[in-house]
Formats: sequence, structure tokens, C-alpha cells
Amino acid sequence: MSFDLVLFGGTGDLTWRKIMPALLQAFRHCKLPPGGRVLAVARDERSDDEYRAFIKERFAAVEASKRPSDEEFARFAEMLHYRRMDLSQPEHYAGLKAWVDERGADTVVLFLATSPYLFPVICEQLGAAGLNGPNARVVLEKPLGHDLKSAQTINRVVASAFREEQALRIDHYLGKPAVQNVMALRFGNALFEPLWRRESIANIQITLAEDIGVGTRGDFYDKTGALRDMIQNHALQLLTMIAMEPPPSGDADAIRDEKLKVLKSLKPFTPESVARDVVRGQYKAGSVGGQPVPGYLDEVKVPVGSRCETFVALRTEVQNWRWAGVPFYLRTGKRLAERDSHIVVNFRDVPHPIFPGTRQANKLVIKLQPEDGLELHLLAVKGSGGNELLSPVSLDLDFDRAFPSERVGGYERLLLDALAGRLNLFVRSDEQEQAWRWVEPVLQAWASDPTGPRPYSAGGWGPAAASAMVARDGCTWAEEQ
Ligand code: BG6
Repeated sequence: MSFDLVLFGGTGDLTWRKIMPALLQAFRHCKLPPGGRVLAVARDERSDDEYRAFIKERFAAVEASKRPSDEEFARFAEMLHYRRMDLSQPEHYAGLKAWVDERGADTVVLFLATSPYLFPVICEQLGAAGLNGPNARVVLEKPLGHDLKSAQTINRVVASAFREEQALRIDHYLGKPAVQNVMALRFGNALFEPLWRRESIANIQITLAEDIGVGTRGDFYDKTGALRDMIQNHALQLLTMIAMEPPPSGDADAIRDEKLKVLKSLKPFTPESVARDVVRGQYKAGSVGGQPVPGYLDEVKVPVGSRCETFVALRTEVQNWRWAGVPFYLRTGKRLAERDSHIVVNFRDVPHPIFPGTRQANKLVIKLQPEDGLELHLLAVKGSGGNELLSPVSLDLDFDRAFPSERVGGYERLLLDALAGRLNLFVRSDEQEQAWRWVEPVLQAWASDPTGPRPYSAGGWGPAAASAMVARDGCTWAEEQ
């Protein structure tokens, strides 16, 4: 299968930080179909060789294991090409069409790694130039809009040029092997399904914690905030995978139909429930990993007095027969104590205890990063000699150890899926719009709330109010247990 991969935003951050390293990995693992071409498109004039040198230089900034040797880069770079384009000029798209047609590849993937405000104009022009034929796919990177209306506008323009199955919306969390293992755990194994319901599960917690701050992205981040940046997409996608019903098949739409049902079942927010069930925070100076770090308001390009949230914790429910009354807690934040993303499924306690001592119910921890694994926490008798006190003990599964050398990075997986036209791990427009519909009342309530985000010290776990919120249900966050 021959392919052309056209990268709009070919000199941007996303291209050299994520896409090129992922392509290199796929190349290294011999997963790319042979004879493919990658065409980077950007505003300035460069030759192919100048572009290759630019990318080679950028590889110095990516993690060592993903850096190529000179010899490997030279082989990889043979497929890299460059083209200057003014994205508003129809004749530049005509030129691109001629470049693509001359070869007639089986698949043409148009990857929009640009600022999202360019998506409408690029899609319109691609359609007008006839670059939307049946072998074309368009890949859209988040953020896809900043509210329901803007997301609908983007989706309408995309739909005027491409059919839904040609539009691939990336949520890079779906590419993470650990996230795919949520599906495997639930639908490839019969063990947990009988327990996966309100009768056995007390609550579910999804934490996406980062130790980094906003870095140099202060201006972008300040218009976004943690709710739009992490909850509307990554955290909600994880929630859908945990809560969805078994799909009738592994087809992309069968899966996405079930995910959409979960999004539609989420308890809607009201101004009162936002005040009670949503905590927003903003980091102040503190120390992370022993290093002093500045507060959000002192980060570069952050406007004076910003009320942007860098932390969100919220409580919701999935209102259906399987989950009625089970709290789902979602939490994300920057400059927290550590990089640690996980899902904790807390099971109910035994109905009638016969062992003495403190109770601690079973839990399943799905570790997403930095480690990728599963822990099943049980209670067992530790000692011999008549000691019948129960102690916690866990069964640990480390996927990196279980499948060494088989692991494929998130972006690599999504790129390969985009080239192959596998849609399971891409977000459908209706899912994305429903997720916006659900978060909008929170955005609206915050806009009219004079109090703003609660400060929290960098290096901690966010405002104390997040613990108080779960404590109301008699729960604690994982790090507090
Ligand atoms: C991105 C957000 O979608 O995800 C970033 O825009 C965040 O703010 C990143 O840092 C986290 O991704 P990962 O894969 O490092 O957990």
C-alpha cells in the first residue's frame, strides 16, 4: 500500500515533537508501508534538504531512545519532502493536488498539525481543489474548538469536504497502549464483567496528574485551561471506555456508538452542582521533585491576574441501569506531586465482615503512565500463628515487562491507524460535540463566578477542596489511602 502523508504545520512544534519521532519509530520498527512519502507544508521557502536538516536538528531535543543515528536519519529522511504553501491560496492547493496525482498513491493522509483556527480554511480549500477523493483522509489534532459552537462550526466545514469516515479526530490518549488495554480488560476477558456494575463497584476515580507546568505555552494554555485541555477530551474518553456497554462488534462505529451513549448518560451540570461537585485550582509557587518552581501567574506569557484553572476535580454519575448512583471522579492538574495517570476502580466492601481489624475494600488500579500496568488489590492473612488480621496485598502486572519489544508508542499507533484507515481510536464528531455539551454548563458557571480558581502549592495534589469533595461520599483519593 503506497501512501502520501501531507503534514500541514510541517515546521511546527507538534510535527517535530510528536509526529516525526513517531514516524521514525514506525520506520525503525519496519511498520511503515514501503515507498511512502511525507510532505511537510509550511509558509517559508526551503528545499527538501533544508527541511531534512531542520528536522535532524530538532531530533536533538527529543528523548534519547527516539533519536536516530546519522545513518538511520539519512535513510529515514529519504521520504521527507517540503513544499511552501500559503494556506489561503487556491493555486497552492492546485499545486499540491498535482504533486499528489503525479504519483497516485493508494492513500493520501492530510494531517492538520496547525492551529485549529486554520482547519476550516484548509478543509474548504482541500475540498475545492479535489483533494478529498475516496482515498483521502484528514487528521485533525486537538483542540477542536473551544466550546460546542466552535466545535460544530469546525465539524460542519470538515463535513462539507470529507465524509465522517474520512475525518480522523485525534485524542492521543486513545493511542496509549494502556488505554487500549482498558478495552482488552473489559471485553477480551470475562472475569470482570459480572462485577463491572453498581452492585459491586463503589466508585471510580480517573486521575491524570502532571508534574510539569505550562512551560512556554502560557498564552495557549491561558485561553484553554484544564477543563478544555484534559477533561473534555482525554478524561472523558477514558470514562467512556470504563463505563460503556460491550459493543456488538469491534467495528469503529459499534464502539463509538456505545461511547456516545455514555456521554449522553452523564449527569448534566447545573449552577448548583458546579458549585458543589467541581473544584478548580491554579498552582502557586512551590517545589516539584525537590526543585523550586514558579506559580502559574509568573509563567511566561500568562496574563496578569489570570483566572485560568490548572487543576480540575469533579464528581459525576453515569445515569443508566449499570451505573446509577456510582460516583465517577475525574481529576487533572499541572504541577502536581508527580506524573501519574491512573484509573482506580474501588469495589464495595464485603457485606458481612468476619475478620477483625480495619476494612479496606478491593480495588483495581489501571496504571496509564509513567508505568503501564494493572494492580489488583486484595486482602490476605499475612502472618502465621493465629494472626488473622487482614493485610492489603496486590497482584501486579507490568505490561512493559510482559511484552518487551512489542510496545508501540501512542502517536506511532495513531499514525499507522490513520494510514491504514482503522478508525477505532479516533473520535467521532458526535462524541466530541456531546463532550462539549456536557462541559459547557461548567464553563458558563465559572464565567459568572467571582471567586475564581483556588490556589494550590505546586508539588502537592491540588486544593484541599478536592479531597473534601470526595470525602462527602466517604471516599479518598488514591494517594490519601
Ligand atoms: C495534551 C495537553 O493534550 O496532553 C497538554 O494539551 C498535556 O497540556 C498533554 O500536557 C499530556 O499528555 P501526556 O501524553 O504527556 O499525558
